[in-house]
Amino acid sequence: MSYTVATIPGDGIGPDVVREAIQVLDAAGKVFGFSLEYREAPMGGRAIDAFGSPLPAASLETCKNSDAVLLGAVGGPKWDKLPGAQRPEAGLLGFRAGLGAYANLRPARLFPGLEGASPLKASVIGTGLDLLVVRELTGGIYFGDRGRSPDGESAWDTERYSKPEITRLLRVAFDAARGRKKKLCVVDKANVLESSRLWRETAKAMASEWPEVELSFLYVDAAAMELVRAPGRFDVIATSNMFGDILSDEAAMITGSIGMLASASVGGRRPDGRPGPGIFEPIHGSAPDIAGQDKANPLATILSGAMLLSHSLGEAKAAAAIEAAVGRVIAAGYRCADIDSGDPAEKIVGTREMGRLVTEAMLEAGR
Ligand code: IPM
Ligand code: MG
Repeated sequence: MSYTVATIPGDGIGPDVVREAIQVLDAAGKVFGFSLEYREAPMGGRAIDAFGSPLPAASLETCKNSDAVLLGAVGGPKWDKLPGAQRPEAGLLGFRAGLGAYANLRPARLFPGLEGASPLKASVIGTGLDLLVVRELTGGIYFGDRGRSPDGESAWDTERYSKPEITRLLRVAFDAARGRKKKLCVVDKANVLESSRLWRETAKAMASEWPEVELSFLYVDAAAMELVRAPGRFDVIATSNMFGDILSDEAAMITGSIGMLASASVGGRRPDGRPGPGIFEPIHGSAPDIAGQDKANPLATILSGAMLLSHSLGEAKAAAAIEAAVGRVIAAGYRCADIDSGDPAEKIVGTREMGRLVTEAMLEAGR
């Protein structure tokens, strides 16, 4: 079996971490008998420099015609002064929308051995953390009408959601909860926002289709607090684009480091109705201050590669093998500099060495 994967290394540490994920994916292919053909697509700041646009049409086309997309990170200080619509981040948002990838799955899990790296006390972590943020990705305030008054003295952004947009996202979340611990918490601000009240109404109306899933609601401020007070109470969190952006960073941090968290953006369709390519990316940013210095943690991108295999290519066994390989490398005490678990036995390694260790662990599993 052979698959095509579009790669968007992007900016900052993006190329550093994508390079390592590709190595691990290739090792998984060797062990499980498939091959991956990569096509690089420029996007973000690099694309602005080379083509004058953060999202060249040819890049979007390459991705649409692939089985999946592996993305590093985009953005950096060099492009921060550009007007909003020309920034690398605008390219990323347009890209997600262009592929119709409306459901963003962000699993936050504490790997055994990293308990000490979490900023939370052991008594709060309890027996471990394992939750999934399902973030709406192609609507809401990040895509709503925005502008400035003629005198520039006031500005606005609009949160707007339609029932179909909410319904399709919640379907993904209900289904995910059914396959996990069967708890779904919809996070909103229904005590203030009309759009949030529509989210609540819609979720309640859908609940009878998933009788085995326990549905609950939390206001976003309370959810932010609960995530650090009692994170173990969560299974699946479904929420809007902006709230999901914020809460997923928080969820990532409590698992030790934002450098560990993978994500999958799915839901798009091809013109013939088949599922479109998913986008798989770490949730961390481009960290320009450490780009190219062999310091970035590639594990979030490597784990995104695992999600790519299971969600877009149907190679679930290979995906599980990558996750297990990462688990073994961590259990052996290897860390990147972003993770400080306080354990004197840990060995801090660079980006390349971490990639090599996971690749080796992957190949060993096949022997
Ligand atoms: C993320 C990032 C992006 C987002 C930025 C870079 C536009 O923060 O993937 O969470 O807000 O979606
Ligand atoms: Mg974010």
